[in-house]
Amino acid sequence: MTTSYDEVTYASTPKPQTQPDRLATLATLHSVIPAPMDRCRVLEIGCGDGSNLIPLAFREPGSRFTGIDLARTAIDRGREFSAALGLDNIEFIHTDVRDWDVAGREFDYIIVHGVYSWVPPAAREAILAICSSTLSPNGVAYISYNALPGCHFRSYVWDLVRFHTRAITDPRQKIEEARAIARQMMERLGDHPHQIAIKEECKNLIEADDWMVFHDDLAEVNTPLHLSEFVEAASRHGLEYLCDAEFGRDCLRAPFLATPDWLAELEYFDYSVGRRFRSSLLCRSGTTPDRDIQPSRLEGLLAASPVIPECEQADGAQKFILGEDKSLSTNHPFVKRVLCDLAARWPGCVPVASLTGQDDEVRDVSGMLLRLYAAKAVELSTRAPHLVDTVSDRPIASALGRLQLSRGGEVVTSQRHTSVHLTDELSRRLLMLLDGSRDRTALAAALVRPEDGGAAPSNPDQRIESTLDANLKMAVRLCLLVG
Ligand SMILES: C[S@@+](CC[C@H](N)C(=O)[O-])C[C@H]1O[C@@H](n2cnc3c(N)ncnc32)[C@H](O)[C@@H]1O
Repeated sequence: MTTSYDEVTYASTPKPQTQPDRLATLATLHSVIPAPMDRCRVLEIGCGDGSNLIPLAFREPGSRFTGIDLARTAIDRGREFSAALGLDNIEFIHTDVRDWDVAGREFDYIIVHGVYSWVPPAAREAILAICSSTLSPNGVAYISYNALPGCHFRSYVWDLVRFHTRAITDPRQKIEEARAIARQMMERLGDHPHQIAIKEECKNLIEADDWMVFHDDLAEVNTPLHLSEFVEAASRHGLEYLCDAEFGRDCLRAPFLATPDWLAELEYFDYSVGRRFRSSLLCRSGTTPDRDIQPSRLEGLLAASPVIPECEQADGAQKFILGEDKSLSTNHPFVKRVLCDLAARWPGCVPVASLTGQDDEVRDVSGMLLRLYAAKAVELSTRAPHLVDTVSDRPIASALGRLQLSRGGEVVTSQRHTSVHLTDELSRRLLMLLDGSRDRTALAAALVRPEDGGAAPSNPDQRIESTLDANLKMAVRLCLLVG
């Protein structure tokens, strides 16, 4: 059987929020202690071509990974790539989730990303039934889905493009026509607040990649749901809501409407932010997660921070760059000191227990760290990732990244499970040379005289000498080097 995912390839990428270590950290914060990373069993339902699962299996050779998917072409690509990488701890199974026989199987972590609200009710039930019957006693399941109420606006445009393309069967033409009608709508809509909101949705669709338009906006099944509906469905299968995979303000349990019902609080919060997407973590009913995070739960964790500190200002405030368009300014002495310390050690991490306040700097260190975690200024983990924080004499880039580049890709998966776009050719050539056999002199020479016989870059010596060091340091910062 050919599925829509065989017809139009879905561009899967690693999803940092699905990493077992992230799930273990969040579970630990809620007093559920799942299996350790280096000896666990991971299942991904709807794994596509394994773009998420293969890097996980690559980094944890002592753990076992199983991916299932209905699209034969995606499963074939996953099998081929994992074999090329020499992995023997991963299996790919071509099956419909509704037909899969799970007898005798048990998993510590189950990942279901971008599947649940895009499949018919029977497949949704099958996903929850598999989680229920195969999750180990302290296991954690991650399930993401399009969410309400935010998707009410999105579904307005989904209905429009599905109606407009109802008679078209060719996927390419469907995608083109969906964009065409969205463009026409944008041109005709006025400035009433309702129309402005619809125009925004049309703009998002016009700018989205083809595969996203086809598999999301035009998807035959796309059923967003409220958190409470999801929690109710999970509980019918003996599964309990743990927390969201994106640790944010709602996870801090800051009172919103101060209702005594935690689920209603989250639901009201979703109304206030127009929530469009959720990634919910589940555990077995009876595991009794602690919904109020106890400070002691942070003690065994590690902390790291990718922030870039700017100079302190005259009034004592300091700005920290969090990402392309995000920053955090603070004049809190503890926050400034901790972020500066962690930033200097990035990508390394330190035990949370070592981050103590000095004098009366801060009374509630755990609370402060959790707020920094929610702001994405601090990363918490149960275990140090496999990476190096300095450039060695003969640097080594991960074999996964080198294989991705050798196949003509420009995107590599970091040791922190993020996608790194290497847009310039020199960085890509350098990373492929980092197999541990070359020191800096040999690297510079190889970059000047490409070993594949290709043309040397113009004005090579000057350019390469000046950029080799910077490129190697950047590779460390981007978590692309291993020990
Ligand atoms: C939107 S894609 C997400 C892929 C991947 N999880 C990701 O996030 O990149 C949905 C995946 O679910 C798979 N799928 C859909 N229905 C399925 C079913 N009934 N059984 C197993 N896999 C299914 C599709 O083939 C596709 O690979």
